[in-house]
Amino acid sequence: MHDIIEMLEEKRAKARLGGGQRRIDSQHKKGKLTARERIDLFLDEGSFEEWDMFVEHRCTDFGMENDHTPGDGVVTGYGTVNGRLVFVFSQDFTVYGGSLSETHAEKICKIMDQAMKVGAPCIGLNDSGGARIQEGIASLGGYADVFQRNVEASGVIPQISMIMGPCAGGAVYSPAMTDFIFMVKDTSFMFVTGPDVVKTVTHEEVTQEELGGAITHTTKSGVSHLAFENDVEALLKLRDFVDFLPSNNKEQAPVRPTTDPADRDDASLDTLVPDNANKPYDMLELIHKVVDEGDFFEIMPEFAKNILIGFGRMNGQTVGFVANQPMVLAGCLDIDSSIKAARFVRFCDAFNIPIVTFVDVPGFMPGTDQEYNGIITHGAKLLYAFAEATVPKVTVITRKAYGGAYDVMSSKHLRGDVNFAWPSAEIAVMGAKGAVEIIFRSDIGDDEKIQKRTDEYATNFTNPFKAGARGFIDDVIMPHGTRRRICQSLAMLKNKDLKNPERKHGNIPL
Ligand code: HXC
Repeated sequence: MHDIIEMLEEKRAKARLGGGQRRIDSQHKKGKLTARERIDLFLDEGSFEEWDMFVEHRCTDFGMENDHTPGDGVVTGYGTVNGRLVFVFSQDFTVYGGSLSETHAEKICKIMDQAMKVGAPCIGLNDSGGARIQEGIASLGGYADVFQRNVEASGVIPQISMIMGPCAGGAVYSPAMTDFIFMVKDTSFMFVTGPDVVKTVTHEEVTQEELGGAITHTTKSGVSHLAFENDVEALLKLRDFVDFLPSNNKEQAPVRPTTDPADRDDASLDTLVPDNANKPYDMLELIHKVVDEGDFFEIMPEFAKNILIGFGRMNGQTVGFVANQPMVLAGCLDIDSSIKAARFVRFCDAFNIPIVTFVDVPGFMPGTDQEYNGIITHGAKLLYAFAEATVPKVTVITRKAYGGAYDVMSSKHLRGDVNFAWPSAEIAVMGAKGAVEIIFRSDIGDDEKIQKRTDEYATNFTNPFKAGARGFIDDVIMPHGTRRRICQSLAMLKNKDLKNPERKHGNIPL
């Protein structure tokens, strides 16, 4: 017995040391924490229960039979974040560069299966050189086993990937199928093929950072949802983020008590929208002013800035916000903003998170670039997502709601539950100038006539009352009371029960 306990301690100590002190020092020198340090920072203190510390690889090629590290390059288990259960795997770059062997994959699959059984989020801290080269095809099989589980868990438990080192080759596709991908600046990268292969195939010279660093993926490709300065910031923010989410698709998000009164007015909102309809204003200000304690967790802030998405709380309840941003491209819907918002709306809907939509949209972005790249298909994604969503949906039109974009942005017609408009709302097929130039084309050149027609159109259509007369909006509300009206609406919708027709799955225009 004594020997066994000694052996146990020895194995534990070896596992804890991963690839050894030299490699740990090298990890630290790069500004990165080790796999275990990351878990310690992410989870509540002392809550981590580790599994499979004694798992070892089965490879017997290239002398691998004599080289074993207990745990095999990934630390797995469960713990709590602010008292709520989460499962986590953390790849250990000090062991074969965190590369994924057959057994490494089995460890990840095991906690994914368990997370599904008990209904808790699964969080991956990725830091890996990809497939364990010595194992070849066995490693590829391992990846596919993880992919399959990512898909089965999609919409059942929240899945989050924090990329904290390399993530290359087919390995990127596991994070890609999770709900959110976060990255650490300077030390993480993701690409399907690295700079050397790129150079051979396309003759482009590009650095790892340019090709797949955090800035690239949060500003250009939209692959990643957020970039953090370093490991510590990333893991602490990840804790905040997890707090917004329910544990699974059968539960509601946790309610966080707030001292911010649900009926708090904000007089400054009455002057947020400028008198000149062509002048921009910052929609982010509106979100900050209505949300509990001004606490808004914005997602993808650097990508498709013409739409804002993120989580906040209204009277303690998690809400997903979607809002056109008139400061960028006048708040137009284009390909990137449609995709960005559509995926977010679908996440909220899958996980019972009510959606609050703020609308100031002059329409879809015109142009050959947009058309050739498929704005029709991509814009339809957002339309589909809003139409499909059965969670409580509250919409506030602050200014423009023109054309097809009016329909798309959680309109009454797409089963919006409560649709408000501010007095400054303009709900119409298009702006007055554009409308007059089409329907009174013969008057063009006669400035006086055109101005008269334009004024006439504006008086008739650029206001909330035509839509109000048809019941397309439920009320015209004063901006200062927006928080109160949204909180009241969400309280009324608390027990909303709406189901889509039974089917295998819909066919969203991908
Ligand atoms: C086995 C690996 C490894 C791998 C790294 N190591 N990647 N061992 N399999 N895939 C080992 C190294 O031998 C080294 O061991 C240690 O990890 C650290 O690696 P370094 O190269 O010294 O580190 P660094 O300079 O930081 O470079 C990291 C790296 C580089 C960029 C990740 O190691 C690299 O390019 N690795 C290969 C990446 C790759 O091509 N993977 C396969 C992709 S294909 P020692 O003993 O010296 O510490 C793929 C398919 C997946 O993943 C398909 C899924 C469907």
